[in-house]
Amino acid sequence: MKKRESWGTHVGFILAAAGSAIGLGNIWKFPYIAGENGGAAFVFVYLICIALIGLPVLMAEILMGRETQRNPVGAFRALNNSKFWIAVGGMGVVAGFLILSYYNVVAGWALGYIVEAIKGSFFDYTTPAMAGEHFNQLVQTPVWILGYHLLFAGLTMFVVYAGVKKGIELGSKIMMPLLFVIIVILVIRGITLPGSGKGMAFLWVADWSKINGNSVLVALGHAFFTLSLGMGAMMTYGSYMSREDDIPSSALQIVILDTLIALLAGIAIFTAVFSAGLNPAVGPGLIFQTLPVVFAKMPGGYLFSILFFILLVLAALSSAISLLEVIVAYFVDEKGWDRHRAVLVMGTIVFLIGVPSSLSYNLMADVKVFGLNFFDLVDYLAANILLPLGGFLIAVFVAWIWGSDRALRAIKSGAATWFRQRHEVSAGWLSVLKYFAPVMIFVVFLYSIGIIRF
Ligand code: PFF
Repeated sequence: MKKRESWGTHVGFILAAAGSAIGLGNIWKFPYIAGENGGAAFVFVYLICIALIGLPVLMAEILMGRETQRNPVGAFRALNNSKFWIAVGGMGVVAGFLILSYYNVVAGWALGYIVEAIKGSFFDYTTPAMAGEHFNQLVQTPVWILGYHLLFAGLTMFVVYAGVKKGIELGSKIMMPLLFVIIVILVIRGITLPGSGKGMAFLWVADWSKINGNSVLVALGHAFFTLSLGMGAMMTYGSYMSREDDIPSSALQIVILDTLIALLAGIAIFTAVFSAGLNPAVGPGLIFQTLPVVFAKMPGGYLFSILFFILLVLAALSSAISLLEVIVAYFVDEKGWDRHRAVLVMGTIVFLIGVPSSLSYNLMADVKVFGLNFFDLVDYLAANILLPLGGFLIAVFVAWIWGSDRALRAIKSGAATWFRQRHEVSAGWLSVLKYFAPVMIFVVFLYSIGIIRF
């Protein structure tokens, strides 16, 4: 049998995992949900969710992968050969198909917007309504939307096709530093704009009156999405790690990088939006409808708009490859497929599943299920149902089914002394997985499917 692939370096793993975490969630979703939920107070709640639930669950996922050296289905099978738990792994693979199918679509918009930025189209707009009109026109053009969708899906397949070391790791080592440099440039541009202080205040001065049950739940749900938790992406990346690697420190670094980029994206975007005197709380259109107008008003806006959409594509690509890798690892490990075949066949299927999402804003705009178009339906199902459910089951599995003693012994292997020799830290990790995380996730889950309301 062929030797299973692995990371070439520790830093390669960190950058790839951070690349998975840092994505559209950080740059597109985080700023607009923070904008809608009152800014600083929401950011505070989000940080608590990341630290108290996201980090421990991330450690659990990486651990399952590293221990078993398998994709999510194989990982559950290796630790507990019951049909139910194997199906939980299978649910992760299904979530991979669904999330990637519409992720490709939004990333395709971003790719198309690099071209719009280069063409200087944004300078034709004076109001977000005009930019919105243009956005609507573009997404109603099937050739535009399907073309960029296909191009982005092709890019993702290209990276994953090249393998773990030569594709994902190398790609992340190039993309992540570039992403970091671009975001720092955009932050400097943002904070040096006149009136940027109002944007900073929006992010850092808390208005507690805006916090309610709903915003807490949005924050927790987003903590999962942004850290790529609940569907085995981090498990798959963990499976290419060596058993001597340090999981607690790695997870901490991944969380810090992800949070840093979300906050920097928030600073870059809100300083610019406030400086242009525009409304920060407009929802998903913030990036594609408000920002183009901001760039049109900004000194140097031409260059910064191009950089911004390149940033968005880099972030999306390094996440999309992790979604595709979950699917590919499953077919390679479980079905004995060769990587190239898995990438070509499955990448194409994911593209095809994404087509109705692509067309949700034009030819299929009238096709509604439960009042949602196809794009919104898949997003809702994956992000609000499959991820929290997966996260809940992973926490329960590690702490209760696989068992405390085994999990503790396993996670301590390779761990740095700050974790290994401090009983309260390791015991704290386990208690969160046992009690706190499942209860909190359960509440979010019931809320998100509408069973309870605050
Ligand atoms: N973490 C990614 C983001 O913030 O955009 C989204 C994501 C990637 C979710 C991979 C789940 C996943 F498995």
